[in-house]
Amino acid sequence: MNTARTVLVTGGAGFIGSHTCVELLERGHDVITVDDHSNSSPVALDRVQKLAGRPLTAYTADLRDRAALDAVFAAHPIDAVIHFGAKKAVNESTEIPLEYFDVNVGGTSALLRAMGAHGVHDLVFSSSCSIYGETTRVPLTESDPPRPTNPYAHSKWMGEQMLADVCRLLPELRVAALRYFNPLGAHPSGDLGEDPTGVPNNLLPYVAQVAVGRRERLRVFGDDYPTPDGTCVRDYIHVLDVAGAHCLALDRLVEGLQVLNLGTGVGSSVLDVVAAFEAASGCSVPYEVQGRRPGDVAVLVADPSRAESVLGWHATRDLTAMCADAWRFQRANPAGYAG
Ligand code: UD1
Repeated sequence: MNTARTVLVTGGAGFIGSHTCVELLERGHDVITVDDHSNSSPVALDRVQKLAGRPLTAYTADLRDRAALDAVFAAHPIDAVIHFGAKKAVNESTEIPLEYFDVNVGGTSALLRAMGAHGVHDLVFSSSCSIYGETTRVPLTESDPPRPTNPYAHSKWMGEQMLADVCRLLPELRVAALRYFNPLGAHPSGDLGEDPTGVPNNLLPYVAQVAVGRRERLRVFGDDYPTPDGTCVRDYIHVLDVAGAHCLALDRLVEGLQVLNLGTGVGSSVLDVVAAFEAASGCSVPYEVQGRRPGDVAVLVADPSRAESVLGWHATRDLTAMCADAWRFQRANPAGYAG
């Protein structure tokens, strides 16, 4: 089933996008990227090409710029699209909600229109476990009801709803929406990783910056949750497992919309992550416990069995590997791609 194709990757320079580009190139696909670099570095794309030993074609553009997108589709025989390009910070989405709807929902509809105009029917869409929102179900299956609690999560759920509708009405479309749990880690080479701009919102980039001495201590948001050690439990998944799932999803698209969780099915607490990172890095990660962060839920763990049955996919890398790989990238690139 693995026929080489020309794949357009939006947000290709970002954390998950760049790792997916390496996997696509290594599997023989031709890769075209579109990224506005609002939260990514073009250096990541240089590293992708070095790691894969093959070139890709990169464009800097905003997905809502229809003329720019049309020019990309006109210039390449694109067979399929993987759509990562979106804004993804939960906190920020509560401050600038309309920007989130405009970029995430408007960007997706602009992309779908350009795909339609150029006869492209195959799409893998980045969704998020955040659409499950305030839930107490453990583990979560794809049929659990979405209850998004912030504009970021809403924008992803709206994207899925739009895709469900257009798939019903345009039967030639073949779409997979992948709901990621918490992607971590880096490419094992240490050349590609997560390089957020500004103060990291997410746990692992913050932990890594404490370990490397860029920040003094981690703030643990709450230790009074109903979990074994009182800190929140999440389903952390290696970014290369996520990237691999995209390649398989591309090979296995069928008419209509398929929705799949991407997680490991294993939960780890904030303190488990701190301990695993200390073991991987040999550095201590000082922390202090603060109050709960608004919007956090106690436990979010995937039931990944549908992805196993549909794609023949399951995650193969554990928290130790995620921390070891993230640390290798952090140590080799203490100031990120700008260093
Ligand atoms: C959130 C989103 C998820 C999104 C991900 C990446 C929700 C429910 N989840 O995940 O969809 O894909 O961000 O953008 O909206 N923590 C600390 N100290 C820190 C940072 C985090 O203790 O400095 C804790 C948090 O309280 C949480 C855990 O670490 O319990 C993980 O936090 P984070 O990495 O931000 O991810 P989520 O909030 O789970």
